[in-house]
Amino acid sequence: MNILIIGGGGREHVITKYIARNPKVSKIYALPGNGGISQFAECVKISAEDIDGIVSFAATHAIDFAIVAPDDPLAMGAVDRLEAEGVKCFGPEKSAAQIESSKVFAKELMTKYGIPTAGYKVFTETDKALSYAALSDCPIVIKADGLAKGKGVTVAENFQQARDAIMSCMRDKSFGKSGERILIEECLTGPEVTVLAFTDGKTIIPMVSSMDHKRAYDGNKGPNTGGMGVIAPNPHYTPEIANECMTRIFAPTIAAMNSEGRTFKGCLYFGLMLTPEGPKVIEYNCRFGDPEAEAVLPLMESDLLDVMMAVRDERLAEVPVKFREGASCCVVCASSGYPGSYLTGYPIDLGDAGNIPGVDVFHAGTKLEGGRLLTSGGRVLAVNAVADDLPTAREMAYDAVGRITFEGMRYRSDIGAF
Ligand SMILES: Nc1ncnc2c1ncn2[C@@H]1O[C@H](COP(=O)(O)OP(=O)(O)O)[C@@H](O)[C@H]1O
Ligand SMILES: [Mg+2]
Repeated sequence: MNILIIGGGGREHVITKYIARNPKVSKIYALPGNGGISQFAECVKISAEDIDGIVSFAATHAIDFAIVAPDDPLAMGAVDRLEAEGVKCFGPEKSAAQIESSKVFAKELMTKYGIPTAGYKVFTETDKALSYAALSDCPIVIKADGLAKGKGVTVAENFQQARDAIMSCMRDKSFGKSGERILIEECLTGPEVTVLAFTDGKTIIPMVSSMDHKRAYDGNKGPNTGGMGVIAPNPHYTPEIANECMTRIFAPTIAAMNSEGRTFKGCLYFGLMLTPEGPKVIEYNCRFGDPEAEAVLPLMESDLLDVMMAVRDERLAEVPVKFREGASCCVVCASSGYPGSYLTGYPIDLGDAGNIPGVDVFHAGTKLEGGRLLTSGGRVLAVNAVADDLPTAREMAYDAVGRITFEGMRYRSDIGAF
């Protein structure tokens, strides 16, 4: 089989690694891929957002199966376009991807179908949003409706911060069209849990739960990032809570999407908060999280491509989806300055980190140039270790990180520490 993978981060690296293991696979192409992915795939310089480029590449390379991993191409309808050309895909169609690409859509869906989430109001006019915020008890949460590269949400501790967030979204258009509509939400409290789930619209199978570490610095301080590390499973997510989530959140979400004529097929990401009143949905994503995928997929024992093809063909109930016991600890190595501005193009010395059994060095922002591995992004590497328990996984991940060097390398030292 010829496989096409869209995207070029750590998430696409881990997906490619496990896809490459399937004996049916003869060739993998990655658009655009990265330095690590090039070990398993031919990387072609076509952007993940160039839908025309992707479709014509697929048409001329006899692609049997495509995996659309990032949010932007899914929201732009890459799956609809590829399927229309006869290319089978893993990932939701545009109408179902709206569960992530419009937070207003997701909120209205949850309200209509009684799925627990934070209270909210929608605004399209700056003045009305400001006066509502002025009358609200802080903290309140201000959210841009559309995709904003993880920067569209502000948890405002006081009116000043709320006002700044509203003005930045609606008046200054910091997120373009994505911020023309905003949500003001009630602020929930409690531990956050991510659950990724495979679903074909009929069956939903949750993967091992995980915990992201969003803040830039140790002790959950500093600005939000795309994610500085992950552990899986999430220690707060008990079997009782998992049962409750299945009956009150996961199954109802799949049914709701079917009722709306937007059957969701692919990986559905549930961002949950375990509040004193029970689990509530913070947000949905329409794809694997990054870096959650780098911690969760190494725990999967079943064949990833077989599961993905079963999702596409709506026969997920017929294939095994098994995860091993034990734990993952994933530490992100970032460029100095990230999530603010940073420089790239520095040589990376991986040492012997990749040779430690149980450790994977996934490439997030790297490129190969003239045989040299160079930094090319804010998040550069996602180093994951799998072991029988979290303390061991944590020790192994940090041992591996200690063997890696590049100019300005920075990482959190408290991933998975309690
Ligand atoms: N209603 C809420 N109450 C408390 N915290 C929230 C709420 N909504 C979002 N957050 C916080 O903001 C983060 C980002 O919000 P989210 O909706 O996941 O947006 P995105 O991931 O698209 O930036 C969440 O992980 C959570 O920590
Ligand atoms: Mg989120």
